[in-house]
Amino acid sequence: MKKFARIIGTGSYLPPKVVTNHDLEKTLDTNDEWIVARTGISERRIVEEEGTCDLAVEASNNALEMAGIDANELDLIILATTTPDKIFPATATMLQNQIGATCPAFDLQAVCAGFVFAMTTAQQYIENGGAKKVLVVGSETISRLVDQNDRSTAILFGDGAGAIVLSADDETGILHSKICSDGRYLSSLQVSNNRINELGFIQMSGNEVFKIAVNRLSNLAETTLQECDMTTEDLTWMVPHQANIRIITAVAKRIKLPMEKVVLTLDKHGNTSAASIPLALDVAVRDGRIKKGDKLMLEGIGGGFSWGGLLVEY
Ligand SMILES: CC(C)(COP(=O)(O)OP(=O)(O)OC[C@H]1O[C@@H](n2cnc3c(N)ncnc32)[C@H](O)[C@@H]1OP(=O)(O)O)[C@@H](O)C(=O)NCCC(=O)NCCS
Repeated sequence: MKKFARIIGTGSYLPPKVVTNHDLEKTLDTNDEWIVARTGISERRIVEEEGTCDLAVEASNNALEMAGIDANELDLIILATTTPDKIFPATATMLQNQIGATCPAFDLQAVCAGFVFAMTTAQQYIENGGAKKVLVVGSETISRLVDQNDRSTAILFGDGAGAIVLSADDETGILHSKICSDGRYLSSLQVSNNRINELGFIQMSGNEVFKIAVNRLSNLAETTLQECDMTTEDLTWMVPHQANIRIITAVAKRIKLPMEKVVLTLDKHGNTSAASIPLALDVAVRDGRIKKGDKLMLEGIGGGFSWGGLLVEY
């Protein structure tokens, strides 16, 4: 019998330090009005001493608690991150140890699309019978890759973690998934270093990223709906990667999805890279917006470019 990968628990965690747009005005040639109008972001969280694993542990424990399972029941952990605490071992193995799991654990790197890539990988394990319970985490201390003197990136990014427990289910769960990459755009969005032992910061051609993001994400949403024999009216919620309100609005407009059906957290979180989708999902599950049976579309794009989407019955 076909198995589905069903979400049975969500969790998230934000580091306590808040950096508002007004805080950034003190050190950068920018202002709150410009940032809100151009991005939709008002504030973001930034780590002080915490590492990517620390954030992941909190989010994972919250998700396991909601799922009602112990960490030692997990068959697999996949941690999507662009900012592992160390080059090796994988931050996922540090997470495995700290939450008391014993299963295989690995990191996955697809920048801001990392969570969708990780969910798609977990889905394959569950549907093929290789795992029954999988913890999928997006955790980032992306502020470590941001030059805080560069106003084109310092206004956008924030730190945080989100986690999902997926369980094999006979009836429903992830209905459709697709991941894509196009490696021709290295210079549009990358970290500036050429070697792992050099310090690097995010370099971005904002306008180009913007146009490609809108184009690729709306095409993907349309194809996904067609392949599922659905229309936007069948969607209960879109939970997009939280990069820029204007990207999200443009995609929603192209696919004719009312903004009331879009979960937005970027005003308070900024762009948390691989953490943004599970963070937004957890917020909307816990405040009661997302309910059992809802049809969710999750979509994200990041450097590479890599992008992907999932259609999920919650
Ligand atoms: C970065 C981004 C917000 C810039 O917005 P934009 O509308 O493209 O802005 P532009 O770079 O064209 O600059 C417009 C004007 O604002 C100014 N400006 C740029 N950054 C500014 C800032 N932080 N504060 C104030 N003014 C700023 C520019 O100098 C320019 O001024 P001018 O018109 O006098 O020349 C936008 O391109 C973006 O969000 N792109 C996508 C980035 C993204 O999501 N990356 C991650 C993907 S995972």
